Order: sequence, then structure tokens, then C-alpha cells
Amino acid sequence: MKRLSLIGIGPGGPEYLTLQAIEAMRRVDVFFMLEKEGRGKEELLEARRSILNRYLKPEQFRVVTASSPPRSTTEGYRQDVAAWHAEKRRLFIELFERELAEGQCGAFLIWGDPALYDQTVSLISAIVAAAPDRYTLEVIPGITAVQALAAEHRIPLNRVGEAISITTGRQMAQCDPSSLNNAFVMLDGEETFRRFGGQDMDIYWGAYLGTDDQLLIAGALDEVEDELLRTRRCARERKGWIMDTYLLRRRSRDD
Ligand SMILES: C[S@@+](CC[C@H](N)C(=O)[O-])C[C@H]1O[C@@H](n2cnc3c(N)ncnc32)[C@H](O)[C@@H]1O
Repeated sequence: MKRLSLIGIGPGGPEYLTLQAIEAMRRVDVFFMLEKEGRGKEELLEARRSILNRYLKPEQFRVVTASSPPRSTTEGYRQDVAAWHAEKRRLFIELFERELAEGQCGAFLIWGDPALYDQTVSLISAIVAAAPDRYTLEVIPGITAVQALAAEHRIPLNRVGEAISITTGRQMAQCDPSSLNNAFVMLDGEETFRRFGGQDMDIYWGAYLGTDDQLLIAGALDEVEDELLRTRRCARERKGWIMDTYLLRRRSRDD
């Protein structure tokens, strides 16, 4: 059997790993690192390497890097994602067969928690389900960017008895602004919060959470929007890439 492990590493810095994640890393023979081509790729790979160097001795593991297949944008969103996932599954199997000896463990270090907006679990679960005599899989939870955002702003995820949505910029671009009360937004490259002006919303924004470059802004959306746009664009320009998350929360009558 070949053992596979998906290890949640939290939002950035090495201090966000759980003890369970560190113990799981110590059982790994090969770490697979896939990043999308583009600006930020080297920095994101380096962040993972520094996590390994912090907790493991160099002779304990190997790192195998590969380019994540690009997603085409030709057939419509769902078909493009399905084709991209099929491509990724093929790449994973090739890596497992080529790089792992019988009995060895191969792992992916997953940003935040593997269960949140990351399809590696489903892709690898499908591979394991198709070859249960060949592979086993363990999943180690991690601290999500959502939790890091709430902690850094010192707010709870929800007010008393309130529901929480966790959603994407793509969904936010289509929803009715008046339907939204308490939503964490991830994967928003388009500054979609601009649609929610004049809605009596607070925003809690964080970029590069858990790293030395962390940025935080909070306040009434109508008041901080300009500052947020300036800060976000400057940071993206300076580093060449940005990873940010925010909470949009409708003010209650008591605020
Ligand atoms: C593919 S999703 C992965 C989420 C991850 N599995 C988690 O649990 O946080 C990537 C999105 O998560 C958010 N994100 C991840 N890490 C972040 C960080 N360090 N700071 C701010 N946002 C982050 C951003 O919205 C980014 O677009």
C-alpha cells in the first residue's frame, strides 16, 4: 500500500500548524508541491519549504515539485473545472506511481484547512476509491483563513444565534446585496465588496493572514472602502500577487 496524507497547514506562518499536523509531517517520505504558474508561485513554494525546515530534518523527506495544470476557459465554468480536475487526477496518479515506493507516505501541505475551497480531498479520495488496495488516505485539519481573519480582528464568526455564509467572489458578484447578512468571502480577485456600498455593512478584511506581510482593515464599508481599495492595489502591485479574505456583516440595530 502507498499512504497519502493531506495536511492542513493553516493560513501562512509555521506557528499555525497543529501538533497533529507536525506529527503527520514526520511520517511523510515525499512532499508533493504543486503551484500555479505566475507571480507568487516561488513565494508560496518557499513558505511551504520553510514550514518543513522548521519541523523536520532535511534527511527525513524529499520534495517533489510539479506545475499545477492550468484551467482553460473555453467550455464554460463547470466543464472547464471538470476537465481541469481530470488533468489533476492524472498528474497525481503519475506522481504517486513514479515517486512513492511500496509502503511509503506521500503528502500535500494544504493552505488553511483541506475541507474549505480546496478540491484536493475530492480528487485524491476518488483516486483512492478507484484503487482501495493500492492507496490509503488521511486528512489532517488545519486553521482556515476564515478563523485567522476572525481571530486577528478579535470578532466571533457570528453574532448571537446568527447563521454564517462562507462564499466566493464569483457568488457575491451575482447575489442580491440585500440578502446578505454575515458572509465570509474567499477567492475574490475582483474587489466584489464594491457592490455592497450603501447597505449598512461593516467589512473586516485581511490579506496575507498569518504571515509577516499581514494587512488588516475594518470598519463601515462606506467609510473604509477607498482606503481598502488603495491598500489592496498597492499590496498587489508591490508583491505581484495577493491572497485576501473578508467578512461582510450587516449592522444590527444595536450597533
Ligand atoms: C483555494 S482557497 C483555500 C482556502 C483554504 N483551504 C482555507 O482553509 O483557508 C484560497 C482563498 O483562501 C483565502 N486565503 C487563504 N489563505 C489566506 C491568507 N493567508 N490570507 C488571506 N486569505 C487567505 C483567500 O480568499 C484565497 O483566495
